[in-house]
Amino acid sequence: MNTINEENISITHYGELISKELKVFYNPVMKLNRDMSLLLIKSYFDKPITFCDPMIASGIREMRFLKTIPEMFESMTVGDISKDALEDAKKNFKNNSISEEKITFLHQNAINTIASQFYHFIEVDPFGSPVPFLDIALQRMKHNGILSVTATDTAALCGTYPKKTLRRYGIHVKFLHCYEELGLRNLISYVQKEAAKHDKQLKVMLSYSSDHYYKVFFKVLDGAQKALEDVKKLKYYTCDPKTQHIEFSEFRLSKEYLGPIYTGELCDKGLVEKMIDNLNLLEDKKKIEKLLTLISEEIDVFGYFNTHKLQKSFKIGSNLKFSEIMEKLEEKGFEVSKPHNNRLGIKSNCSYEDIVEILKEN
Ligand SMILES: C[S@@+](CC[C@H](N)C(=O)[O-])C[C@H]1O[C@@H](n2cnc3c(N)ncnc32)[C@H](O)[C@@H]1O
Repeated sequence: MNTINEENISITHYGELISKELKVFYNPVMKLNRDMSLLLIKSYFDKPITFCDPMIASGIREMRFLKTIPEMFESMTVGDISKDALEDAKKNFKNNSISEEKITFLHQNAINTIASQFYHFIEVDPFGSPVPFLDIALQRMKHNGILSVTATDTAALCGTYPKKTLRRYGIHVKFLHCYEELGLRNLISYVQKEAAKHDKQLKVMLSYSSDHYYKVFFKVLDGAQKALEDVKKLKYYTCDPKTQHIEFSEFRLSKEYLGPIYTGELCDKGLVEKMIDNLNLLEDKKKIEKLLTLISEEIDVFGYFNTHKLQKSFKIGSNLKFSEIMEKLEEKGFEVSKPHNNRLGIKSNCSYEDIVEILKEN
């Protein structure tokens, strides 16, 4: 047991091993996740909010928020099923001289914590899948509020375990070249369907995948008709195993069809720009700055091309660098960007034939 620091907060730390078995869970990699929520709250809301985090563990997230952007919170309702976590969080608040005035601590299941009132912002950050907590979270969201969903069951979402995806998320999936984006879009599709049950429409404000998790911030709006329109926009698709060419359909025409998947925008560029403008709120901002910049530059197309895998499929040995392939596509008049979540990928509105042609010529 020792003390560690994240940004302007110090907490009791129980060991380097990142495991559910830790007395109180803390994962340094998730600093990025906490940074994102902090910047989003500051950049999206224009008045103090009612905030809920039903699974706080050490309380690091809330302490950072209250120290950095205290003006953004009217109240905080927080909880954890672990008695150790809650006791530890309270100690951490005292040690960091953070007032508990605005906070209600609840030692109970997250479902009960969420159910206790209505919120402008709910942070769903569980071990593994968010599925058990979404139904109640969607019912307790205020109009125009933000539902923040983290999923660490990435293998189930991106196609490594198709049976699990079907069982847990009701989605048909295969492991494709652009698997990170597929997983993210599958998660969005699932949460939109859940929201529609409660006559709520979800707009994706920011979504990303990094390290071992997916995270999506949804703006939640009341409206049965809009919710229905969104669900109708979810698509089925087939994908050619060699070319990775995707054909979309409104319906599941045969058992070869995958989906339903979300095909809309993955972020609100205006909000991302505001978050970039607010980066000065963080001391250690290298990782988030790089990620937000990539996200802000991403073009709005479905998926990306993995040029290494395409070369393998077509038995091509091109010496072109990524930057050169991107330049050649731009010269041909296509839109091009890097995906934020795959170093080997290229996002473009070209077809696979256009890239294969460039690779073959060089
Ligand atoms: C991934 S950690 C949360 C990390 C935290 N949000 C942070 O930023 O450091 C998950 C926490 O949820 C708690 N937990 C797991 N299942 C729960 C449940 N059903 N209800 C309430 N808390 C739960 C665990 O005790 C653990 O502290």
